[in-house]
Amino acid sequence: MSKYVSGFSKLSKSDKINWIVDTYFSNSEEAKSILKQYWNTNNKLQNLHDEFIENTITNYYLPLGVAPNFLINGKHYTIPMAIEESSVVAAASKAAKFWMERGGFKAEVISTTKIGQVHFMYHGDFKLLKSYFHFIKPQLLLDTKSITKNMERRGGGILDIELIDKTDSLEDYYQLHASFETQDAMGANFINSCLEQFANTFKANADDFEGLRSDDIEIVMSILSNYVPNCLVRVEVSCPVSELNEDKNIEPEEFASKFLKAIKIAEVEPYRAVTHNKGIMNGIDAVVLATGNDFRAIEAGIHAYASRNGNYSSLTHASVKDGVFKFWMEIPLALGTVGGLTNLHPLVKLSLELLGKPSAKELMQIVAVAGLAQNFAALRSLTTTGIQQGHMKMHLMNILNQFDANNHEKRTLIEYFKTNAVTHNAVVEAIEKLRQ
Ligand code: MEV
Repeated sequence: MSKYVSGFSKLSKSDKINWIVDTYFSNSEEAKSILKQYWNTNNKLQNLHDEFIENTITNYYLPLGVAPNFLINGKHYTIPMAIEESSVVAAASKAAKFWMERGGFKAEVISTTKIGQVHFMYHGDFKLLKSYFHFIKPQLLLDTKSITKNMERRGGGILDIELIDKTDSLEDYYQLHASFETQDAMGANFINSCLEQFANTFKANADDFEGLRSDDIEIVMSILSNYVPNCLVRVEVSCPVSELNEDKNIEPEEFASKFLKAIKIAEVEPYRAVTHNKGIMNGIDAVVLATGNDFRAIEAGIHAYASRNGNYSSLTHASVKDGVFKFWMEIPLALGTVGGLTNLHPLVKLSLELLGKPSAKELMQIVAVAGLAQNFAALRSLTTTGIQQGHMKMHLMNILNQFDANNHEKRTLIEYFKTNAVTHNAVVEAIEKLRQ
């Protein structure tokens, strides 16, 4: 059967499913029933999800878990996390409790500026272009008034527009480089609408400027940047070294010293830094997803920031001075608590309510704290017991589910593996033995 289809998006949902199961599946009835199993029985709710994207055929579940006992700037939070990796929520909860008993997390938003650019080509005299830019700049701002009106009412808007000469990097390449304040909105639509208007105004008025022709300016594209090094949040924990005393198998001083070495390694070694930062993103992405934000944008911006000095490096840092252990991170986070999915997806609304309906700034702090907590938990395991002990304990349930263990088998084997090392083979053997 041909795998080419034309006009797919115009088919009804059930015709789309019929085409897919008939074309790709040997047991089409079974495939159809799996897809339908995940439909919500509430038609209105299902319709809402169907309409988030094009060609929806079913829903894809991720667990939404919560990590309680986060103390941030003296305020208690239970943090929602949407993630599939078994150990992440447990690790976050453990780190949260550990730091709650030691004064909690301190968090501070340093800046909230976002960036967007109109990329264009111009082959001509730069001085002329510069004069034109100064002439047209007030008009650029004026022509976006209908777009910026609401945002300005909320205290945001366009902060500045600059003309940037990029011809050193690429022949004829210039930018209108604009900065924005978007308050509680992530602001992608607002920024992109402003940029497209800048591009129209910039090109359309060129003919009226002495010496310049509209055809001299070729607009290539107008788009926000997900690199937001001036939308920064800083989070930190600290305590006397002597209080790093939770693990009876390691002295606090030795723990602090190993922890610092682990950070130094991630600062100088990119192979390690990528995994180190991936662990931070375990915490960050899970909260970003639960609160309906764009985790791909966050990932792209943070990893770019991790290489801002020319080498990909650790996002977290640590020090011991005068007997005090300090652990901190500064990251860019462009988040929204209004607009987008935030007032559309029922679970996103619920997650935001669970967090006390935070402003975007407060959410920046919460998300960054989840990342720092995750890194603390990972480094603590890595430098003491090793990661597999905790990981495999959490993964145990996945293995048991793979073997369709019933409740009795699960209870028995969870008990058994409290005192025995979890490996895939060990679990399989234990199930087989139990079933004999
Ligand atoms: C696994 O998802 C994350 C870790 O690899 C992070 C790290 O190595 O720091 C445990």
